[in-house]
Amino acid sequence: MAKSEKKTSNPKAPPLFEINNTTAPPEKPSKDEKPPFEATTLWDYPKQSYGKTPKGNNKFQGVTPAFLIWNLVQRYTNPGDLVVDPMAGSGTTIDVCKEEERKVIGYDIAPKHPEVIQNDARNIPLPDESVDLVFIDSPYGDNVAYSDRPEDIGKISAEDERFYHELEKVAIEAHRILKPGKVLGWLIGDQWVKKKFTPVGFKLHERLAKYFDTVDVICIARRGQSSHTGVWHYRAKKFNFYLRGFKYLFIMRKPAKTRSKVKWAKYK
Ligand SMILES: C[S@@+](CC[C@H](N)C(=O)[O-])C[C@H]1O[C@@H](n2cnc3c(N)ncnc32)[C@H](O)[C@@H]1O
Repeated sequence: MAKSEKKTSNPKAPPLFEINNTTAPPEKPSKDEKPPFEATTLWDYPKQSYGKTPKGNNKFQGVTPAFLIWNLVQRYTNPGDLVVDPMAGSGTTIDVCKEEERKVIGYDIAPKHPEVIQNDARNIPLPDESVDLVFIDSPYGDNVAYSDRPEDIGKISAEDERFYHELEKVAIEAHRILKPGKVLGWLIGDQWVKKKFTPVGFKLHERLAKYFDTVDVICIARRGQSSHTGVWHYRAKKFNFYLRGFKYLFIMRKPAKTRSKVKWAKYK
């Protein structure tokens, strides 16, 4: 028996050695085809979608990996809660939420799913404090041409401060519609273009932290990137740069309302 391995009282339970082994291989998709419920801050899943029906459109450039929305929905909502995605694109959030029996509204400036409503994320037509979870996978700069719409924030370079200014307006709207104590999940990646690195994630987080408390930061492994080919790996090593291997998922909480501390003695 290994030194660190101890017997547990339940004979069917795995040895403590296995429980404590932090390098355990990632869980495989379970038989009912739901993704694994994540326990660490490193999330890696081999496919864009899961289950028997598609979630979003995996042909859409910029589609969100469905398993991460599923994990946020499991952690931070209950059946019947309202989830809103203000930049819903091909509707991954809609498809995940409907299967999990959550109410859901998806908006986008250029919808690519029949249930996504056309709307600018900087002005969301919902009342204050009416939503249980907001999820956003925004543009990461101007690397993808999403639409010809002038309101498309994906037309602004991540090297331009205006990009963060416009995303901050979206964050303010997310904050307004969320109920106090509820969560915003925001997915974003850094940029390396023309020999220049831009820390898009850090810069966005700085803006989000003005309004929200950070619950945690999750590292999402990037799969199926067009640059994940032999030739790009060769170039990265030969010309001494790195290919983007992960995205950030910022989990932010709108602070719960605290009762103001009135010093009544002052009014006596
Ligand atoms: C990364 S994609 C979202 C992908 C989506 N979650 C999915 O799974 O298909 C970013 C989206 O932001 C949208 N967008 C850009 N500017 C916007 C704006 N001002 N208001 C609403 N949506 C906007 C784009 O049209 C694009 O669909």
